[in-house]
Amino acid sequence: MKIVICPDGEQATLLTARVMEDAIRQQPDIALGLATGRTMEKVYAALVQAHHDRGLDFSYCQTFNLDEYVGISASSAQSYRTYMNTHLFSRVNIALSATHLPDGMATDLAARCLDYEKSLLACGGVGLQLLGLGENGHIGFNEPFSAFTSRTRVVTLDPATREQNRGMFDDNLDHVPYHAVTMGVGTILDARRIVVLATGAAKASVLADMIEGPLTASISATALQMHANCLVITDEAAAATLSRRSFINHLMQHDAELQGLLS
Ligand code: GLP
Repeated sequence: MKIVICPDGEQATLLTARVMEDAIRQQPDIALGLATGRTMEKVYAALVQAHHDRGLDFSYCQTFNLDEYVGISASSAQSYRTYMNTHLFSRVNIALSATHLPDGMATDLAARCLDYEKSLLACGGVGLQLLGLGENGHIGFNEPFSAFTSRTRVVTLDPATREQNRGMFDDNLDHVPYHAVTMGVGTILDARRIVVLATGAAKASVLADMIEGPLTASISATALQMHANCLVITDEAAAATLSRRSFINHLMQHDAELQGLLS
């Protein structure tokens, strides 16, 4: 795991978008693993800007989103499909047929989850996976106790997650689904490269668990410590409780890859 601490959330966001832009330029037909949440809205805005200002080309990319709510139709304002169409897909040159999200309305959800895994394999696997961090340590919707070997499946949402995401449902907790389909922790770990973006004081405690805590299925994000190519981009507010801060600073000054990112 490599860690970059930016002065603020805006710079962390821009650096994350730059990492994605560089990956797309290096491999135009890359399969991107994509995430949702408030943090990612600004990343997608920066990628849209890169498309307009620097001609960043999405036309050869495939995308696979981490998760979708069960029982929310793709066309509904609350679906992650709508979120992705609104923030990215309708604003860059990608065909909707190249964009994949789990189907939360399927009658046979288990079969569709298997199909999702098959389509990931068929495109050669995710080249770069973008991840946010839930306040309970989830990645995708892998709630506490998710097996590190878990694959795409239906999960029951943590009450803390439903509370955190109620803003997308007219602030009405009764409207937040109890279930979702998510790529598993094992599915996520199969990505060749992972970039995690976590900013703001609300993520400080869980970010410290993810980076410095022991591996535990109670905090799915700790599984990322096992990934050989995982970059964490954060800001001062979220990094506030890291105990190895001076070593992280040392790495930022002397690690060639991090130096390249920060130059
Ligand atoms: C949702 C998504 C997660 C994401 C999280 C972070 O729960 N399923 O993939 O990491 O939101 O949300 P935010 O960026 O709003 O803090």
